[in-house]
Amino acid sequence: MNDFQQIINKDTDPERWELWSSQRLAVKDLFDKVLQSNDITERIGIVGAGNCDDLNLEYLASKCKELVLFDIDYQSMQMALEKLDVSTRSKITLVEVDITNLNSMDFYHQFETIVSENQSPKKVIKFLVTAANELKANNLIMEKYRESFDIVACSAIYSQLFYNWALFKLDELGSYSNSDFIKILEKGLVYLRNKTVNICNDELYKIANINAGIVCWADLFEMEQSDYSVIKKNDVNSLIPLFKRKGIQASLKGIQGINSKMDEFIVMRDWVWHFSDNKSYFCRGLVGRGKVIKD
Ligand SMILES: C[S@@+](CC[C@H](N)C(=O)[O-])C[C@H]1O[C@@H](n2cnc3c(N)ncnc32)[C@H](O)[C@@H]1O
Repeated sequence: MNDFQQIINKDTDPERWELWSSQRLAVKDLFDKVLQSNDITERIGIVGAGNCDDLNLEYLASKCKELVLFDIDYQSMQMALEKLDVSTRSKITLVEVDITNLNSMDFYHQFETIVSENQSPKKVIKFLVTAANELKANNLIMEKYRESFDIVACSAIYSQLFYNWALFKLDELGSYSNSDFIKILEKGLVYLRNKTVNICNDELYKIANINAGIVCWADLFEMEQSDYSVIKKNDVNSLIPLFKRKGIQASLKGIQGINSKMDEFIVMRDWVWHFSDNKSYFCRGLVGRGKVIKD
């Protein structure tokens, strides 16, 4: 899974830093909703930092004493830091982590084995459902940071968690018929995907202080030219048919989940994320504060 993410993260357009300038601005605007204008925040944590092309690291580092970046792909974060001056770099800590916790149960290796053995769809589904039911927000790396961040953020991670990797492996290693492939997908992979999204949010909230700022943005669907005429400004209802028809389910679920855990909702922003020359996403950002405490 690390290798898979590394390949995806490396496979980026050299023009991307320029192309993503409006994305960085939109993201900075979200952070500004929870940054105190005068005070320096102690610690900011960002999960899914990757290449850091959507992050203005100089700005964020100037606003806190420590900026901690988390990702399953350590190398891409390391390369992003190389562009920075020494004083900014000295404030940044990089942490390699699998936020889904699937690696701690040796999931990736076991999944590859059962798929390449072409085990029956029933067995594959059972394996996936069992993994989902056993999965817990008990990441030892995140545990070290428990309740230690004043701001926590999550960068477009939900659509990247495990699911694309699993589909790729199912196709590459298995030889399932179309109908068996769909059965495994619908009855097993989607179930586990939804669980990993919840675990990601649980881990994020675990490291947040009781009154922490919560910042999140996610790719909700791929934009086509025709969508521009369907989406009406200031009318969120005009988005519903698009969410239904082509919404990225992991992202929709992730955004909904993170929202439901916020004690105070601050703002929601929608914008178009120009991802590459020929691809754009409808992106949603959410900002809130604090966490709902369950009795
Ligand atoms: C779409 S990218 C977010 C954009 C990123 N901030 C950038 O500027 O390149 C999603 C990130 O999530 C990371 N990711 C995917 N699965 C992960 C996991 N299980 N644990 C931690 N990070 C993961 C990927 O490595 C990738 O860097």
